[in-house]
Amino acid sequence: MHRFWDKRYQKEGVYGKAPSPFWVRELERVAPSPAGNRLLLPCEGEGRNAVWAARNGWTVDAFDGSSVAMKTCKRWAAEAGVEVRTHHADAFEFEGDVDGYDVVGLFYAHMPPHLRLPFHELAIGWLRPGGRVILEGFEPRQLGLPSGGPKAEAMLFTTAMLSEDFTELEILKNETTSVVLDEGPYHQGPAHIIQFIAEKSA
Ligand SMILES: C[S@@+](CC[C@H](N)C(=O)[O-])C[C@H]1O[C@@H](n2cnc3c(N)ncnc32)[C@H](O)[C@@H]1O
Repeated sequence: MHRFWDKRYQKEGVYGKAPSPFWVRELERVAPSPAGNRLLLPCEGEGRNAVWAARNGWTVDAFDGSSVAMKTCKRWAAEAGVEVRTHHADAFEFEGDVDGYDVVGLFYAHMPPHLRLPFHELAIGWLRPGGRVILEGFEPRQLGLPSGGPKAEAMLFTTAMLSEDFTELEILKNETTSVVLDEGPYHQGPAHIIQFIAEKSA
């Protein structure tokens, strides 16, 4: 699996270099403060969202199973003059900061069906009390569109599925939306996505 991704990341900028507009909008609402500035990006790829967060005052950890992507992420951060703590790790081996994170950003982190719930449970565990998950990914109407995402329906997100997976959090947003993606060659064109935010009780 990680070999598939290493191959994809041989070319740089496969999901673009600019952050997701949803990430920018939502992170600006929860600006970093001395009490809350720690952020984790699992399955972060080349670091488009990580570098933007670091440039905006967050202390950022990012991991990905692709060593090629993590090298690019490190370099993009250095070129931007910021630090992103990169970890070449599988989601099920990554340990993270023991104090937890104020924000966990899950962007297009689609897992095979048997791993999705365990992965989301890990994400809940990485949050500190009061922290929030910000998630964006494809929903089933995306199937058949050439603008990105897994080609198997079982790997896509529904609002009902996310409500169940994150039931122990307070769900603040859980909506499907149609957008036109312009995020590198692999996220390009009209697309159907879910945007989701949930908060762990303090
Ligand atoms: C579609 S890409 C999204 C990358 C990035 N989040 C973004 O939005 O630009 C999915 C990423 O998940 C990573 N990934 C998939 N399964 C993983 C796993 N079990 N552990 C760590 N990373 C994984 C892949 O290496 C790939 O970089």
